[in-house]
Amino acid sequence: MSGIIERYRPLLPDVTDATPVITLAEGSTPLIEAPRLARWIGVPPQLRVFLKFEGMNPTGSFKDRGMTMAVSKAVETGAKVVMCASTGNTSAAASAYAARAGIASVVLLPRGEVALGKLSQALIHGAQVLAIDGNFDDALNLVRDICATHPIALVNSVNPVRIEGQKTAAFEIVDALGDAPHFHAIPVGNAGNITAYWRGYQEYHAAGRATRTPKMLGFQAFGAAPLVDGSRVHEPCTIATAIRIGNPASWKGAIAARDQSGGLIHKVTDEQIVAAYAAVAANEGIFAEPACAAPVAGLKMLAENGYFKDLPTDEPATVTVTLTGHGLKDPDRAIKTVASGIVEVAAQRDAILRQLDRFF
Ligand code: F0G
Repeated sequence: MSGIIERYRPLLPDVTDATPVITLAEGSTPLIEAPRLARWIGVPPQLRVFLKFEGMNPTGSFKDRGMTMAVSKAVETGAKVVMCASTGNTSAAASAYAARAGIASVVLLPRGEVALGKLSQALIHGAQVLAIDGNFDDALNLVRDICATHPIALVNSVNPVRIEGQKTAAFEIVDALGDAPHFHAIPVGNAGNITAYWRGYQEYHAAGRATRTPKMLGFQAFGAAPLVDGSRVHEPCTIATAIRIGNPASWKGAIAARDQSGGLIHKVTDEQIVAAYAAVAANEGIFAEPACAAPVAGLKMLAENGYFKDLPTDEPATVTVTLTGHGLKDPDRAIKTVASGIVEVAAQRDAILRQLDRFF
């Protein structure tokens, strides 16, 4: 069973012979072409859309790529406890990898703002779960403060090895496509992942593994869009709780990714996010959590605004979209989105057939 560390060891210089590899066989997630979704988004026909479905990682999100690195390095340095702040997925990954390593984990969460599936993961993996009366940004400040003065390994993405692990998703995309995509669309919260992808694409390009680097297209939620608005958001607010962040730790990394790649970072409304979330599931059979729909909604907005209109019509192009987490993380949102779809019916053949009229 090997994960991203074994797959990409020569490109992960933090890993040495002294590093015990703590893995759950993360990575190697599918890159799935999405032609029906492409039509829903409205991209021109020569632009192929591919979904990098990170929900297929062992704890159901991309966080596992960084966490195999962070927990392996923590164990290497003799840490007995890891700690993170989280909107949910980081805590799920930290607690799972800590359990795998046989060490303890502490997770600091914004009370009432973490999706049910994520909370259940941290609890069942044995983390000490602390819910604070504050948001993610408050939680991260507290964790940084405590880890600076106590023998606890910090496993948020301010720990640089997290970003190193996460860059492997860009390697996998290039390995699968045979070259880098022309555009890469991604949700942005604390901004570690956009920073990591950009690094991965640049490194592969420098190593001669790709002929180009993609334009990085980042998307934030309207009520939590500090990078778009240009200033910190004190009370971030969105139904996409994974990216409910007002002061991203990797702010500079995200801006560099945007500017160096010739890309952009825009914001989309919760209504656009929910529509895209349902469209991914209904058009392609892929269940991703709400935050993942931000880049899908964003691409639709760009297509409507003519962003892709200058692409040459006779040359195929590709856009990859990272679907960062699994839809089962947040079952409440799915049910809220389509609860009206449940029809109560008598347990009788005729009554059931009456409901199926539209198919005949
Ligand atoms: N999508 C999902 C599903 C996430 O969980 C996160 C971040 C992001 C996107 C944004 O990635 O922070 O690297 O820009 N979740 C963190 C957490 C904050 O605590 O689980 P980012």
